[in-house]
Amino acid sequence: MTKIDEVALAFLEELKTLGSYRQLQNTGTLVDFQSNDYLGLGHDPGFSGSLISFLAEKSHGGTEALAAATGSRLISGSYEEVSRFEHYLAEYYGGGAALFFPNGYLANLALITAVSHLGVSFAYDEYVHASQRDALKLTRAQAYQFHHQNLEHLQRRLRGAGENNLAVVLVESLYSMEGDYFDLVQYRKVFSGNESHLILDAAHTGGLTGLKIGDGVISRQGYISYDEQLLPRISAMPNPENESAAGDILPENMTLLITFGKTFGVGGAAVICSTAIKELMINKARPFIYSTAPPPYQVLAAFFAHNYVKNKGIKFVTKLQDLCQYFRGQAQKHLGIDLPPGPIFPVLIPGNFQVMRAAEELRNQGLGVTAIRSPTVPKNSERLRIVLHAHNTDKEIDRLIATLKSFGV
Ligand SMILES: Cc1ncc(COP(=O)(O)O)c(C=O)c1O
Repeated sequence: MTKIDEVALAFLEELKTLGSYRQLQNTGTLVDFQSNDYLGLGHDPGFSGSLISFLAEKSHGGTEALAAATGSRLISGSYEEVSRFEHYLAEYYGGGAALFFPNGYLANLALITAVSHLGVSFAYDEYVHASQRDALKLTRAQAYQFHHQNLEHLQRRLRGAGENNLAVVLVESLYSMEGDYFDLVQYRKVFSGNESHLILDAAHTGGLTGLKIGDGVISRQGYISYDEQLLPRISAMPNPENESAAGDILPENMTLLITFGKTFGVGGAAVICSTAIKELMINKARPFIYSTAPPPYQVLAAFFAHNYVKNKGIKFVTKLQDLCQYFRGQAQKHLGIDLPPGPIFPVLIPGNFQVMRAAEELRNQGLGVTAIRSPTVPKNSERLRIVLHAHNTDKEIDRLIATLKSFGV
């Protein structure tokens, strides 16, 4: 064995003793209570079939090359499909511009590192995604953490950062480990001026909630959810300044990130922003500049998925809402626990080994649930992360509840 393997194995052994060793596991036939495929498109042969037909049509029987971008966007990787889709997204979400990325992780790295060149300071919710935190580590900017969803603490943090300093606030629309929604209405009441710019990572709500079917964001009237119950706190955000503008308008002082690998069932991400911020990313975002552009087939797949959800999403979302309501009711009745609106439900089982045992037990019953361990979440807040999808059933939920009950949740 080489020296480096020896050291690596010792390191991995140490992870095992902490209960934080990770292993790849095929999910196979397990009931899906873990993926981010909220509407079930990734599982839907109809969706896949239509997508393949769409791509075949776009390739004009093989005479059109869709396989590779062939270089970074600034070299040979900008092409008609990507600029057209970006234009479409900018119009659709009411931003001045949009920039497409191969995934949300890279999009966050690009956006946050580019913005850091403006001499701003950042304030971030303590539970924002790893990609936002990793991006901050790549900058020299001051970054202040604030307590989860605590706008009062955020205000204090911003005061501490200095009055003349433009602050960039990082939040998620739906926190992927907590299952709670960011209160944009309240945020905009508290931070109405020019003193801060919000970066809203809507990775988990893009396509799931929103103004028009399938959107996931903002209209002139603000967030309009499919169902006030699923999104009780993100509704009806008045934005009177934009009343006269045509189309739906991304609020000023806000940049939005959506991803296509979750609800939209394919892959990729887009930053919807002002033209100035788009140009800033093109000039200063290293993950954008020094990486091969996403291939045309990926861009076309994202375009297809966006339209698919826009036109057909309501059917799946309605089903998902009913399931979320059912699950919350059953969990309250049989387990005595109150859960967030859904579709992400954390069930606390403190301790890495304890939560892994619980997930294993569920797997033995054919139920796929992810154990979230520290350090992904703080110590003693380890949890099962239960995710519902439009393709789940009441019966599957009953089995899940019964199994959770059997080991004393
Ligand atoms: C909030 C949030 N942002 C960004 C990402 C990264 O997106 P992607 O999976 O497309 O890289 C994720 C992925 O889980 C996420 O949860």
